[in-house]
Amino acid sequence: MADTAAQSLLHDVRLPLLVGRDRELAALRTALAATLAGRGSLVLIGGEAGIGKTVLAKVLLAEGVECGALALVGQCYDLSETPPYGPWVELFEQLAVEPDGPSLPAPLGINSPASDGMALFARARDALVAVRRPIAVFLDDLQWADAASLELLRYLTRRGASLPVLFLATYRASELTRRHPLYGLLPLLVRESDALRIPLRPLDLRSVTRLVADRYPLPEIDAARLVAYLDRRAEGNPFFIGELLHALEEGGLLLPSDEVGGAWELGDLARARLPSLVRQVIDGRAARLGEEVRDLLAVAAILGQVVPLGLWAALAEVEEEALLPVVEAAFDARLIEVADDGASVRFVHALVREALYEGIAPTRRRAWHQRAGEVQAAIAQPDPDVAAYHFQRAGDARAVMWLAHAGSRARALYAPQSAVDHFTRALELARQFRVAPSLSMYRERGLAHETLGEFDPAQANQEAALALARSMGDRKAEWQATLDLGQ
Ligand SMILES: Nc1ncnc2c1ncn2[C@@H]1O[C@H](COP(=O)(O)OP(=O)(O)OP(=O)(O)O)[C@@H](O)[C@H]1O
Ligand SMILES: [Mg+2]
Repeated sequence: MADTAAQSLLHDVRLPLLVGRDRELAALRTALAATLAGRGSLVLIGGEAGIGKTVLAKVLLAEGVECGALALVGQCYDLSETPPYGPWVELFEQLAVEPDGPSLPAPLGINSPASDGMALFARARDALVAVRRPIAVFLDDLQWADAASLELLRYLTRRGASLPVLFLATYRASELTRRHPLYGLLPLLVRESDALRIPLRPLDLRSVTRLVADRYPLPEIDAARLVAYLDRRAEGNPFFIGELLHALEEGGLLLPSDEVGGAWELGDLARARLPSLVRQVIDGRAARLGEEVRDLLAVAAILGQVVPLGLWAALAEVEEEALLPVVEAAFDARLIEVADDGASVRFVHALVREALYEGIAPTRRRAWHQRAGEVQAAIAQPDPDVAAYHFQRAGDARAVMWLAHAGSRARALYAPQSAVDHFTRALELARQFRVAPSLSMYRERGLAHETLGEFDPAQANQEAALALARSMGDRKAEWQATLDLGQ
């Protein structure tokens, strides 16, 4: 099955001919060759949205598979933060279905939990060692990874870990704020694991010329006009270039000519009148599908990159069948694709979802998020991170409770840093919304700090819990807090 996943990666993804990435590919191939010879490493591919990070990593992964490596993929999704170990859970699922696949403890697998976080990490490492052939691990969009996932990456790639694994990870450099867990981790990763950093730059004029020549057999003068047009507008961003070409084709300005021999022709680009932002180009494409389809796609964009049809229908308050023509139209317009299980769809690119999302008026967006939070809260097993995300975006006080749930879950899943962050955010919001914080938020945050070996904040939190218990006159909680403090 892991091989099947790799196969679909090779065949479904329609990998394009990469232009302007020869140097980067050479460096990646060197790292791959070393991995095939038993010496793994970590390569970090950074750059702006749409610059070509994912496709570059996938091209290398496909080459790795051809050379006999096992490809494992873990994706992070834009939900301000993925649930604890989200990408690794996805990745190890691909191993679990191998004939003699590992039986990993929760949350990485379905077995009973490990004794502590370190034991969990060691089991993850053992699972990779047990594969007994080179592995190419690909973690996409680390800017959306949770802190625990990053810690596991750090553990597995530390110098001396010496696994025959090539770890490829991508991230949007521009989205790393100082508060982001990856921001502080990047220099550590480079230091501790000798990671190779590959910053991707915009395509130069020569590369854009090659890209155009590869896709459209145009007369020389037309090709030059098109390249100049793309260069002016897309500033070397391959995603934007692709969107512009698509819009020109759709608008009938770039089309196969009547001549035999497969030639193409280019119309008067002054007539193109395409907007200057990639967001507007995508929004225009959705708008051409009609108001109803566009609105439903906007609702889907609220839910995230992967959209379960059931949730989408519930949020839009329509029958699931009513979504099928929308799915078909959006599929034809290359905005979404249907997931293998048929029960969900996904936007073809994170930037497509972001464009549709940005197109929703802020007040409507808040209202949709509020409903999405309620829909999530009402399902059989709500995901606390998802509910917390929507209620936060909605500016709804229920975010406090869901953040606390997410914090408890993170603690139970050996993700103490995420737990601390969640409780901290919950307490901040409680103050903002003037709702009373619960005692357990301090208590659990204190215990998470304790797990991290941060004893001063651990003590401060237990003292806050004790003070709160006293002020509430809750003798049992007071007793518990006294025990936690070891007094
Ligand atoms: N060097 C290249 N040559 C040709 N096409 C490219 C190149 N790089 C990227 N593309 C195309 O541009 C689009 C965007 O690439 P990709 O999805 O890899 O960007 P990304 O950096 O991963 O973006 P994001 O940060 O949003 O995930 C894809 O359709 C891809 O096929
Ligand atoms: Mg990407």
